[in-house]
Amino acid sequence: MGVGGFIGSHLLKPLLSCENYDITGIDISSNKIEKYLEHPLFAYENLDVHQSDKIDTHVKACDTVISLAALCNPAQYNTIPLKVIEINFISQYDLVKMCTNYKKRLIHFSTSEVYGKTIQGVAGRHIPDKTAVDTYLLSEKTSPLIMGPISAQRWSYATAKQLLERVIYAYGFEHNLEYCIVRPFNFIGSHMDYIPGIDGEGIPRVLACFMKALLFKEPIQLVNGGKNERVFTHIDDAIDAIMRIIERPKATRNCIFNIGNPTNEVSIEQLAQLMVEIYKELRPETRDDDFSIISVPADRFYGKGYEDSDKRIPDISAARDLLDWQPKIGIRDGLKKAMASFIEQYGKRHDV
Ligand code: UGA
Repeated sequence: MGVGGFIGSHLLKPLLSCENYDITGIDISSNKIEKYLEHPLFAYENLDVHQSDKIDTHVKACDTVISLAALCNPAQYNTIPLKVIEINFISQYDLVKMCTNYKKRLIHFSTSEVYGKTIQGVAGRHIPDKTAVDTYLLSEKTSPLIMGPISAQRWSYATAKQLLERVIYAYGFEHNLEYCIVRPFNFIGSHMDYIPGIDGEGIPRVLACFMKALLFKEPIQLVNGGKNERVFTHIDDAIDAIMRIIERPKATRNCIFNIGNPTNEVSIEQLAQLMVEIYKELRPETRDDDFSIISVPADRFYGKGYEDSDKRIPDISAARDLLDWQPKIGIRDGLKKAMASFIEQYGKRHDV
């Protein structure tokens, strides 16, 4: 499910090239996977998450369900919260029941958003000492999940995803569902989201927002000054981890995995500065006055009800121990690869 999205489209390549799997890929769009549509081991089904009857037939016929379908764009969480809750929770609930009924393994993609804010962020304390980084590590087994009030609708997505994790866990507990839950930490790479005005409308995630600003020589906008921090994880490292999960059903049974690169942390302000630097390297013909970075209030950028995760660094010891996985791509190299692919995809148009 969700084969045509950012993660699904990247996962298809190694799945098909190892020739161990017959894949039925379900999505509402096949734009990102056109080159695989004729592959003999791949069948594409143009279905949306509400078409439960047809999805049921496919679940019954397969061994493993990989569930990637989601509305995962923060600009939607406080503007269309009902749709966010419906797609990310209600329609997925049926899929969990189908996997339970037919005794199928479910690999479900959740999100690092389930952690919400840090304890230190809520308490208004920041620990600048780098040796204290461990105090921020988010652990699948021990960290609390901290959201804002109901009126802060930003958390509609995180709470929908969290409740679905609890449902999956409960089906494992009460009905022996075999599952594995993945929590991605800001994966970046080619074909992520869209560039507004070219192949989509609205506000995509930060990489595409900043790439649009760079390509069109517009100001890069830092929401509330860009003080919040993220680890950005290159999609190639992420796919490596996901393939290991797929191939190790016993070791990963009923586990939850943070998948992210804890050493790739930057504030959003630092991300903007780094992206300007890399863009200049990739396009040496650009001039210094092509770039500017400004701060905008969150209410103006996203609308009312937006809040943010202040910091999220994954503890990846479970992935290290059970998958023998270690992310290898640093922040600069990962950004450079991702940005080069955006320039390749969009930069040759006459208007950018
Ligand atoms: C989002 C989703 O909510 C998660 O489900 C998903 O797992 C995650 O992306 C991800 O990519 O893994 P978030 O990190 O908040 O979470 O998404 P972005 O839209 O990429 O925003 C990152 C930060 O950049 C936020 O602090 C946001 O306010 C800021 N931002 C975004 C800007 O300062 N300027 C922009 O133009 C866009």
